[in-house]
Amino acid sequence: MPKYTITDNYALIDKLKENRTLTKDEWTRLIAERTPELAEYLFSLAREERRLHYGHDIYIRGLIEFTNYCRNDCLYCGIRRSNSHAVRYRLSEEDILSCCHTGYGLGFRTFVLQGGEDAFYTDEKMVRIIEKIKKHFPDCALTLSIGEKTCDSYRRYFEAGADRYLLRHETSNAEHYSKLHPSSLTAAARKECLWNLKRIGYQVGTGFMVGSPYQTARHLAEDMLFIRELNPQMVGIGPFIVHHDTPFADQASGTLELTLFMLGLLRLMLPKVLLPATTALGTIAPNGRELGILSGANVVMPNLSPTSVRKDYSLYDNKICTGAEAAECRNCLEKRMEGIGYKIVTERGDSLNL
Ligand code: SAM
Ligand code: FES
Repeated sequence: MPKYTITDNYALIDKLKENRTLTKDEWTRLIAERTPELAEYLFSLAREERRLHYGHDIYIRGLIEFTNYCRNDCLYCGIRRSNSHAVRYRLSEEDILSCCHTGYGLGFRTFVLQGGEDAFYTDEKMVRIIEKIKKHFPDCALTLSIGEKTCDSYRRYFEAGADRYLLRHETSNAEHYSKLHPSSLTAAARKECLWNLKRIGYQVGTGFMVGSPYQTARHLAEDMLFIRELNPQMVGIGPFIVHHDTPFADQASGTLELTLFMLGLLRLMLPKVLLPATTALGTIAPNGRELGILSGANVVMPNLSPTSVRKDYSLYDNKICTGAEAAECRNCLEKRMEGIGYKIVTERGDSLNL
């Protein structure tokens, strides 16, 4: 006999919609005991919530993966320092501006500069790049995703014009965090960065991988509670996907099913948050991003990096879109979104979750 009846779990979803949170035990139970029927119920509420605030609009972000050098050695990541098979590259200031230029012409009004933690890009260099992008594209938002920095560095980037910062907390549980990272990196330090970013005034994005090695439903419950407390403007989640040249080569990847369920829960918890249907989701299933939107997501992040370096930003195996030009990626996503009744819009798309 199951410990709880199905009706209890439907009631939990109603409770989540009403209170916008659950206790740790309730989150754990809901996640552990999910069923396809329960998921459908969740997704219908999540879609309704998203429609209320964002209609059927899908925001696009132009992702520029400008360096794959990294001083860190996260155990799951294909561009970790110890992966001697990774072919390393850096984009010059001109390359980055040229990506923005192409993106602007395609209707992008947000650029996301993402990379490993690469000391080559000193604060001075970053500030110059940020200032140039903001000068050339004043009507665009600029998002940084370059890892853990000092509060002073974050402040300098912000003052130079960066608007948003993405830094996934990866897992809220300190012990779980220590199984995914070398001992030089801690959950506490990562969270401290997020609080600093918020304090400075960034629109902040956090998130986690679904199905990372050793993850339990209770860890995911803790992730929900942390996100609720942080109250970020964006939450990026995607399945963990194996990379063959990492210590996790023999682990199982996360699933589409659990990722979608977590997207639905996030939408009900933070109705106005910006929630991307990530590239990793599109990698584990051909229609993963469409299903992500239908579970409550409202952002897609096509790649603007030059095709010559795309395959080298290899965080996990079989990453999609490594051969396509920026325009192809954008058009492909436009068609995919139209196919499910949604529309890509070319606004900055600031978060309504303040
Ligand atoms: N260095 C920056 C940072 O630490 O935030 C940004 C780059 S990092 C590669 C961006 C995100 O990729 C990480 O936060 C992690 O969640 C995700 N990632 C890395 N390896 C992955 C994998 N094997 N499967 C899925 N996502 C992965
Ligand atoms: Fe640094 Fe992955 S280990 S970006």
